[in-house]
Formats: sequence, C-alpha cells, structure tokens
Amino acid sequence: MQLHKLAKSQRIEAEAWSALEKSIIYYQGRPIGTVAAYDNSTEALNYDQVFVRDFVSSALLFLIKGQTEIVRNFLEETLKLQPKEYQLDAYQPARGLMPASFKVVSHHGEEYLEADFGEHAIARVTPVDSCLWWLILLRAYVVATKDYCFAYHPEFQNGIRLIMELCLRNRFDMYPTLLVPDGACMIDRRMGIYGHPLEIQSLFYAALRAARELLICEGNQSIIAAIDNRLPLLCAHIRQHYWIDLNRLNAIYRFKGEEYGKTAVNLFNIYADSLPYYELDKWLPTNGGFLAGNVGPSQMDTRFFSLGNLMAIISELATEEQSTRIMNLIEERWEHLVGDMPMKICFPALEGEEYRIVTGCDPKNIPWSYHNGGSWPVLLWMLAAAALKTKKTYLAQKAIELAEERLHADSWPEYYDGKKGRLIGKQARANQTWTIAGFLLAKEIIANPAYLPLVSFEELPQELVSRACEFEINSYDTTMF
Ligand code: GLC
Repeated sequence: MQLHKLAKSQRIEAEAWSALEKSIIYYQGRPIGTVAAYDNSTEALNYDQVFVRDFVSSALLFLIKGQTEIVRNFLEETLKLQPKEYQLDAYQPARGLMPASFKVVSHHGEEYLEADFGEHAIARVTPVDSCLWWLILLRAYVVATKDYCFAYHPEFQNGIRLIMELCLRNRFDMYPTLLVPDGACMIDRRMGIYGHPLEIQSLFYAALRAARELLICEGNQSIIAAIDNRLPLLCAHIRQHYWIDLNRLNAIYRFKGEEYGKTAVNLFNIYADSLPYYELDKWLPTNGGFLAGNVGPSQMDTRFFSLGNLMAIISELATEEQSTRIMNLIEERWEHLVGDMPMKICFPALEGEEYRIVTGCDPKNIPWSYHNGGSWPVLLWMLAAAALKTKKTYLAQKAIELAEERLHADSWPEYYDGKKGRLIGKQARANQTWTIAGFLLAKEIIANPAYLPLVSFEELPQELVSRACEFEINSYDTTMF
C-alpha cells in the first residue's frame, strides 16, 4: 500500500477507535456496554440504549484488545436482567429470555438498569436473537480469557440452562429449527421472516454449540442430552432443506406437489410456481449456492439473507463445500450483494405489491432501503470472518477497502440505501456503534486470523452425527422438554 494511503488508513482507524470509546456507557462507575448510536442530531428513540445484538461487535473488539472488564460487566448485568421465574402474565417476558436492549436510569441518586424485552419497541417485537447472541458472546469471553470458571459459576450455569430450556422446549411444530414471530432478530420489523428464518437458525446453532461447551455435566445431563440430540438434526435439516444451488433448483423445479406420507420427496409441499425460478436460474452461478431465508409448510423464501448465510459459515452449520459455494456466490454476484458498500442485509428487495403486502406498507422498509435490501456495514466483520474461514481473505480485503473511506467521510452511518448502496440510509443514524465496530473488527480478524476462534466452531463431532443418523429420517420429535 502506498505510504500516504497507509497513513490515511491508520488515521481512520484511530478515529474509529476513539468513536468507539465515546460510545461506552457506565453503570455505577463501571463500563457496561456501548450505545447503539452516538448521534445528537436526531431524536434518540432507543438508540441511546445498549442493544445486546449490537454490543457483540464491540465486545469482540474489546476482547481482542484485552479490555475484558466491560464484556464481563455486560455479561453479569444482563444475566441479572434475565427473568428467572415462570410468568403468569402473558405480557411479561418469558423465563430465560434476554432483553433487546437496556439503559441506565437514575432515581433518587441511585442508578439502576431498565431492560426492554420488546415491550417498548416499535411493533412490540420479541428479541429472540438476544439470548442466542448472549451465549455466543459468553463463549467468546471464555475463549479469550480462558476463564472457564466464570461460565461455571452457578448463576451462569442457571442462565445458560434457562435459555436452553426456552429454546428446546417442545412446541407445536416438529422441526429441529426454531419457530419465531416476524422481526425476532436484527431485522426487527415486519419483513415476512416469521416461521423458521435462517438468521435465527444460524444463531441458534452457534448458541447450542456454545452452551454445549460451557455447561458442566453435573446436574445438566438431560439438557446436554437434548442439545446433543438437537445439534445434528438441526444441522442436517438446514444443510438439506435450506440449500439452493442449480442442482437443487432443478430438483425443486420438477417437484411433485400434494405428496402424502413417509415417502414424500417434496417434504414441505413447495410449489415451484411460488419461487422466482427463472430469476434464480439466471442469477445462480454454477459454482455458487446459498441457504434459503426460510423454509416451512409450502414456503421457501429464496431471498439471500447475509447474516444467516455468513454465520452458517462461521459456525460450521454449512458444510465446507456449501460454505465455499456461498462465498463463490458473493464473489460472482458482488455487484448485487456487496455493491459499493458491504453488504446487503438481504437480496433482492421486496417491490411493488409484494412490498406492500409483506411489510405492511412500512415506509422505512421501502424497496432497497433499511431492512429491505439496504446495506449494513456491521456485516463487514461477518463477511471477513467467513472469507477467512473459506480461505478467500482477498474478498474481505476488497470489502474493507471499499468501505473504509466512505464510512469515515459519512460519519459511520447505520445503513445505506439504493441498489448499489451509494445513498446514506434515509433515516440512518450517524456514529452507529456497530458500524464502527464492524469495520474495526473486520480489520482485526483479517490482520490476525488467530482471533477467528472467538466466534467460529469446528465441524460437529462425528459421534453425534452418527447417532443422529440412527433416528428415522423424518422424525424430529426428539426434544426432551
Ligand atoms: C434497528 C435494527 C436493529 C438494531 C437497532 C439498534 O432497530 O434493525 O437490528 O439492533 O436498530 O441499532
């Protein structure tokens, strides 16, 4: 890199670090998290709160830099916010849930934390992903500090158990995937992702892996058995039923409908006419593929969702071959999926009548804006980690270079709009913390691959996979709760 370019890059990095420092929130004199955005120019709404999902990007950076105290405080304090009892009132958060966000409130000179489990959020959405991110972060903390005793503490063991119980409980459906309402994750507005969205499934898988590593055996045998049951089934389900490449598209294109009984091939009764197969036929490169956004009864959402696909690579939910193919797709369809700002939250956008019906005419989610095909710089770190994992580091480097100067010049916007991501998001905050952290984290991961294990996993142990094969192929009723 030329000298002046290098100097500029270092200056941008230094400014990003000081912006990140500014976003730190203190509670009773101790650092406890980072605000979602540090932007005085517009109404704060809840952007002055610490969001669990947003904090993960900052937290990983703090761990890398040895600033472990803030992460430890965050984990301890959020654990206290988790409801520990069954709630009789259906409007109360369920036992085991983690809040979407919290803020520090002062009353008569005393500080306390006020959590939001979605009861204040726009459209009252449930943050299903929070407890999953929390577990992923707890495991990253332990990997970074080697302080296993921290997670072995009875209060943490109980917290992990409650999350597992909430996720593994028998419900109305009989899939290994998690059934959730719309807007239960990073996309926290109505976007037609209710059911079994990929983002939640990828995080669920990583959270199960984390819990399996962190739960001590004594007293947890039944939960550990349930996790061991669920992991290979979830993994096989996603790898088989969510996967789309040209071969699979061919199979789906010729699917028969209305198949009854155990010998059904078209398990979910997907009608090929519900898929944009001519578009996909044109769009899918021969060496590429991806995991569908959602699969359920007569439903296959063929939009590409970045977070779910990237986290599937990082957590090794996708096979090695699938991971390479996902990255091939990103490389071959760079203009669509990355464009001028890494990277699209989903592709393509919902347009016209579909946009109106699916989003409920949401003015923030108009086509190619915000969650509906907007570009989110926070995804940069996941792109970098996935690129590293699949030995395509050059893609991450290209993406970082693309983002660096603009993110800085535009004051770290929350998101970008437009097909190529050239417009600063219509309602984007400036100094959005996870934009800053996402950029810095991508750089750190690429500069030092040894940080990847903070968030990545290895392939599932073979003995679990073989045990799963002993179950009947269509039998999903193996949860223990
Ligand atoms: C928006 C995003 C959500 C994020 C929050 C705070 O609601 O959709 O994912 O956590 O802003 O940044």
